[in-house]
Amino acid sequence: MFVVISLGGSLIMQEQPDIKYIKELAQIIRKSPHKFGIVTGGGRIARTFAQAARGLGASEFEADEIAIDSTRQNARLMTIALKGVACPHVFTDFEKAYEAAQHYKVVVMGGTIPGITTDTDAALLAEKVGAKRILNLSNIDGVYTANPRKDKNAKKFKKMKYQELLDLAGKSDSRKAGTHFVFDFVACKMIGRSGIETHFINGRNITDLKAAIDGKPHSGTIVRG
Ligand code: UTP
Repeated sequence: MFVVISLGGSLIMQEQPDIKYIKELAQIIRKSPHKFGIVTGGGRIARTFAQAARGLGASEFEADEIAIDSTRQNARLMTIALKGVACPHVFTDFEKAYEAAQHYKVVVMGGTIPGITTDTDAALLAEKVGAKRILNLSNIDGVYTANPRKDKNAKKFKKMKYQELLDLAGKSDSRKAGTHFVFDFVACKMIGRSGIETHFINGRNITDLKAAIDGKPHSGTIVRG
């Protein structure tokens, strides 16, 4: 079974790279019987650089380009943590990642082209390698009716259909470099058209993480159907 992980940048790095968490995640991946595609997000660093680039007169395309660099730097950390089981190359191309996936347990990518986010990269990689499951790991423990950090009445979905996630994502997707949204609108379309089951969990909840990798019940949100 091939599992694709969309790894939120906030889990890889806060003020500093979170070496303890990266090691823990790498250990779980090493021990799992599954194969993995990991797509790393850019997190706060990507937002900081995109904002700085705009301050210097960058176009949105250029802001995306600099944010992509941050995602790739995070991807590099993962290839190092997974030395021996992951292909050491940080892929920028789905075809090449697919080829490497035939020989390695793990392939790692960052961003690819401006205009999308690593959620879409993860969905495209999942389509390319034929993965039936995506894990969206972030520091939020599921998909909510509204941003749970801002709205005390926000409720978590246990299960959702693709169309429900698409409707929710459509409300919050401003398509600007380094802006947060629950899941990239385009990625919602991709998982829906290919019927890829997508699990949203807090990546630091190790019990949920292990359960989601195996497609078992957890306290996050499952999107299918
Ligand atoms: P992320 O996927 O990390 O976006 O890409 P995010 O929504 O901020 O996710 P978290 O916070 O890591 O969970 C960061 C930025 O990199 C650019 C976009 O500007 C995106 O907002 N990017 C990423 C691209 O332009 N193309 C890509 O393929 C990937």
